[in-house]
Parts: sequence; structure tokens; C-alpha cells
Amino acid sequence: MKEEKILILDFGGQYKQLIGRRVREQNIFCEIKPCTTPVGEIEKGGYAGLILTGGPSSVYEEGAPQLDPAVLDLGLPILGICYGAQWLAYHTGGKVVSADKAEFGVHPASLVTDSPLFQGLEAQTPVLMSHRDRVQDLGSGFRALAQSDNCPIAAFGNDEARVYGVQFHLEVNDTLQGRDMIHNFLYRVCGLEGRWKMDEFAQVAIRKLKEKIGDGKALCALSGGVDSAVAAVLVHKAIGQNLTCVFVNHGLLRKDEAEMVEEIFHREMGMKLITVDASDRFLGKLAGVVDPEEKRKIIGEEFIRVFEEEAKKIGQVDYLVQGTIYPDVIESGVGGAVIKSHHNVGGLPEHVDFKGLVEPLRDLFKDEVRELGLELGIPEDQVWRQPFPGPGLAVRILGDITRDKVSLLQEADAIWREEIKKAGLARQIGQYFAVLTNLQTVGVMGDARTYHYVLALRAVTTVDFMTAEWSRIPHEVLAAASEKIVNEVPGISRVVYDITGKPPATIEWE
Ligand code: XMP
Repeated sequence: MKEEKILILDFGGQYKQLIGRRVREQNIFCEIKPCTTPVGEIEKGGYAGLILTGGPSSVYEEGAPQLDPAVLDLGLPILGICYGAQWLAYHTGGKVVSADKAEFGVHPASLVTDSPLFQGLEAQTPVLMSHRDRVQDLGSGFRALAQSDNCPIAAFGNDEARVYGVQFHLEVNDTLQGRDMIHNFLYRVCGLEGRWKMDEFAQVAIRKLKEKIGDGKALCALSGGVDSAVAAVLVHKAIGQNLTCVFVNHGLLRKDEAEMVEEIFHREMGMKLITVDASDRFLGKLAGVVDPEEKRKIIGEEFIRVFEEEAKKIGQVDYLVQGTIYPDVIESGVGGAVIKSHHNVGGLPEHVDFKGLVEPLRDLFKDEVRELGLELGIPEDQVWRQPFPGPGLAVRILGDITRDKVSLLQEADAIWREEIKKAGLARQIGQYFAVLTNLQTVGVMGDARTYHYVLALRAVTTVDFMTAEWSRIPHEVLAAASEKIVNEVPGISRVVYDITGKPPATIEWE
């Protein structure tokens, strides 16, 4: 039986992880390696097919990234994308030229649907183009399989040799039938059956972690969030009690959160867990601080200090485990204006001596991390937990932070979350939480005048948290939450619902 495995060869393109994800979506395993990987290694790898990524260079330029053309003699199916397609054309007797007009953006293309690559697809379809060079002539045995206005050879192929090139980016959503094209390449061209499942990823990841860490000791800062949890459980499966997790309670967590982390990771999953109650320390440092960026900075720095102190108590630690996922890798690489500093708990301590970092989720997207978490036996509630900012409730209490305000907010927030869950809305809403404003207003309870805080409820629908829409929550759900909060949380006498999207607002209030 053929191995259900594809190799993605990287020419420096920005979409390589997205291509990987598209392959995994089709239940086929893939690896990503640099284009300089020796052909012998590719041959021994047991791959069922190769995908060549895009890249910023021109194939005819000196110093352009090169793959050993002997790869073409392996008889493996190959799909080249953008630069990968140009490389293929160039090395199979075709010609690549600099186009008179660069082509960027979504353009209509017409496909030749009698080729296995485009079989069963609509012949007219939008595709995302992003290129300066284009393929002008094809080598013998090849034919054009797609064209757009500016690009007469937008895709080409040799069905017999099972070698294809597409000038457009079929891995992005803008290429409407891109997923179908990848499906066709994997199933029709490579003859795969889609037998790979997340459990296989888990097994391979655990094996690799065992090899890397060996008898060494590892340390992981659990934040309670899904990424660090999945990373920790994966490493725990590989090295057991040689992993120590540290959970720092900075006193700004949601109601019952610290207990829940203990319950799941220590009692249910048997992991070695040190919980540090540092709430006095954090709240002491934060006393009187009102500026949100200042709050973030204090929490970020203090977190690292507490973590370092714990690490020192544990003694020699070889590896630090982090729950970095692929979108974090992209975000940290992109410049631009700093809107919020997004201090994450779990930042890298500077003064602790580690041999290295372990980031087992670096290639995965959020939904894949969730799937893996379920596979590893992490409870569904924990896996589907909405994101919670590192600085916690500190950025949801406007103005100065006191213990009383933290408890008020914890109670009100718990009621809001419960009502959303009861209404069956939890999965549809990207993030929902309560914010304690520092505004007090007049109210009446019984016969007495009150002068209490205004609480704001927030719920947003979002795909990537970069933009968001306020959720159209049914009025009855808002009414039930408001009534319960005002009745059960003394100190709050008015509830408002935030109806602002991002932009212009941000998701958090601070
Ligand atoms: P904003 O408020 O910037 O939030 O629209 C986008 C997403 O980021 C989260 N967020 C943070 N996460 N540290 C974090 O770890 C932070 O300082 C921080 N500030 C915002 C926010 O909860 C939302 O998911």
C-alpha cells in the first residue's frame, strides 16, 4: 500500500504552510522541506507526490532557488505553483519570460476540464494571480490547461508524466475551486485515498518529540488556553513525568479557571503541574495603574519573573515548550503600527538556560490544534475554549484594578458566558466576555437609590480576530443575562451591550 504522504518543496513562498494545511484537509499527510533537499532523500522518503511552492524570484535569474532537476526523473507526480510552475516549465523544455504587465489579484480563468487536474470543475472560475514572470512556451508532451486575459498559459500539464503547473495560487480561498484542484491532484493524479487522520499526526509528533528530548527535562507554561494545553499534553505523551508544567495564577483569571486547570491537567491527565498563586504579587504591582499598555507591560514582565523563579526551583531544565501555532509565526513576522502590544503570558524568559525550544504546533492552524487536542483526549470544553488574553481581566477592568472589581467582573462574566452557552450560541461566537467600566450610574433597587457600576457585554463574530462583527444576539438572551447579572452581582446596576465592530473598535476594550 502506497504511503499517504506528500512532500512540499519550498522555494521561499509565503503560502507553504497554507498549502500544507490544504493537503491535510484532504486527509493526506505532508512534510515541508527546502528546495535544496537532495534528490536521494526525496526518493527515499516514500512520497506519493511533490508540490513545489511559489517564491519571490525569477527562474532565469542567477542565484534563484533551485531544485535538483533530477527530481523530474523520479517518476513522481508533481504540482508546481507559481514560481514552482515556472521552474517546472523551465526545466521541461519550456520558456519563462518577464510579462509586460504584472498580474495581481483575482481574475477569471478558463480551464481545460478533460485533464485529471481540473476534472469535474466549472470551466470558468476566478483564480488569484500574483506574478511578474509567466510561462510563454511549453516543452514537448505538455499542453496549456488554463488561460486568463493576461496569461495564455495560466496552467499546464503532461497527463502521462503526471506533471502539472499552475500560475495562480490554488491554495487561497480567492481561487474558488482551489480546494477541488488540490483534491484532484492528490486523489486523481497521485492516486491517494485520504487515509491520514489527526491521530497519525499525533503519533509522528510524539515520536519526534521523544527523539528530540530523549531523557531531557522540559518545562511548559500552561496558560489555560488551548494552544499551550495541546502542546503540553503532546509533550507529556512523549516524555511523561520529565515534563513539568507551571501555571501562574495572576489573579486576573476568569471564575474557577485555576481550579479547572488543576482538575483537567493534573487530576484527569496525570501531568506534573505546579500552580503558583501569585495574585497578591500581580495585584500589588498593578495597584493604581490605569494605562492599558502599562498594565500589559507589568503583567508580561512579572509573569516572566514568576516563571523564572519556578524554573530555578525545578533545577536543570533542557527544553522550554511553547504553544506557538502557525498564525503566531506569521503575525510576529509582519510589521506595522502597534495597536496593542499583545503581551502573552508564556513569553520567553531571558535568564533561564535552556538547550532549546520545543514548539510542536508550529505548523498547525487553530482548527487543526483543536482537532489534535480532541484526539489527545483533552475535554471538548477546554478545546473549544474561546481565546483569553494573556493579561486576562486586567484589560477588561477599565481604570484601576482592585480585588473587589476583579470579583465583580468574574461573577458577571461567568453569568454572561453561561447564558450564551445555554442559548446554544457558544460555537458561533468568536469571543464573548464582560467588561467592567469605571463608570457609575444611578439606579433604584427596592426603594433605595443605588450608585453602582455599568457593565458592558461584548460578543463578536470573527474568522481571524483581525476584523470582527458584533454578534446579533437574540434580545431574550441579552435580557436574561442582564437581569441575572443585576440581581446576582451586587455593585452592578446597569448593563449595556457593545454594538461596535472591529474596526473601528478593537475586540477588547483596552
Ligand atoms: P483586539 O482587542 O486587539 O483583540 O481586537 C484581538 C484578539 O487578541 C486578544 N488580545 C490579547 N491577547 N494578550 C493576548 O494574549 C493581549 O495583550 C491581548 N490583547 C488582545 C483579544 O482577546 C482578541 O482575541
